[in-house]
Amino acid sequence: MKNFIKNLPKAELHLHIEGSFEPAQMFEIAKRNKIEIPYKTVEEIEKAYKFDCLQDFLDIYYQGASVLIYEQDFYDLTYSYLEKCSAQNVRHTEIMFDPQTHTERGISFEIVINGISRACEDAEKNLNISSYLIMSFLRHLSEEDAFKTLNQSLPFKDKIKAIGLDSSEIGNPPSKFKNVYKSAIEEGYIPLAHAGEEGPPAYIWEALDILSIKRIDHGNNCLQDENLIKEIIKRDIALTVCPLSNIALQVVKDLKDHPLKKMMDLGLKVTVNSDDPAYFGGQVNQNYIEIQKALGLSKDDLVILAKNSFNYSLLSNKNKEEYTKSLDEYFEINK
Ligand code: ADE
Ligand code: ZN
Repeated sequence: MKNFIKNLPKAELHLHIEGSFEPAQMFEIAKRNKIEIPYKTVEEIEKAYKFDCLQDFLDIYYQGASVLIYEQDFYDLTYSYLEKCSAQNVRHTEIMFDPQTHTERGISFEIVINGISRACEDAEKNLNISSYLIMSFLRHLSEEDAFKTLNQSLPFKDKIKAIGLDSSEIGNPPSKFKNVYKSAIEEGYIPLAHAGEEGPPAYIWEALDILSIKRIDHGNNCLQDENLIKEIIKRDIALTVCPLSNIALQVVKDLKDHPLKKMMDLGLKVTVNSDDPAYFGGQVNQNYIEIQKALGLSKDDLVILAKNSFNYSLLSNKNKEEYTKSLDEYFEINK
């Protein structure tokens, strides 16, 4: 199974680039930028990475991102992630980045986007992996702040495919961002959002009906509302599920209780993703490996998940057909 997963062509659709920041690279960049971080060793960092909930994690995650200053830092961070993708047979990735985490500290939008997008261009040439960027608004900040970010992004519109909504969910419902989503859609961005990770089903309804989202990040809590499940299926919208993240943030207590298979059986379209791999103990393949083992997923299930990862990506229909065909061939040879 491990080899089957390792060689399975796949896409990753839920990944925060700031959450891919591995401790060793954090030390290296902090050192070259002469920034003090509150840890001396990788062991100290690992000890600090124990979370009771989303907010616990976010506090540490924003602190980690604060050592990123120069365009080269964003380039190195992104290129390292893409190298890991290449080693896992991730053929396409849709990368979230949080501009406000950096612009709030005085780093320009231009530095962030240029570093990230140059790494994506180089990885496409050197590693044969395609990527799209998702600009995510921090939901604990105001809609006015999100509008500022939207305006900053407009000169770089050709580099950004979609918008997302992340950070502290409870108390920050999707409806808070109604106007900025409307404007972003008018600018041509595809609307996506985290919803129902810790928040109630009502937040998922709002994300669908008020923000018009085309994909739900996490979405676990849709299972509490039968009508919502029906509606998600009817609209053919996928959930980007992140098993190891759910364990690390205590959204799910034990992988054996993870609802991924139940979601599939209900007819929901789900994908497997890493979310913040440097913080949650595994890249995307590790998520596949551990959830396969915990739930006893078959090779058939794994191929469905991989097909979903392409079919619910933002790729063209032609690309989707090609990847579906290559997955059929892969299954035929390796079943
Ligand atoms: N930012 C990074 N990871 C996140 C998550 N799992 N939920 C909300 N915001 C995030
Ligand atoms: Zn996320």
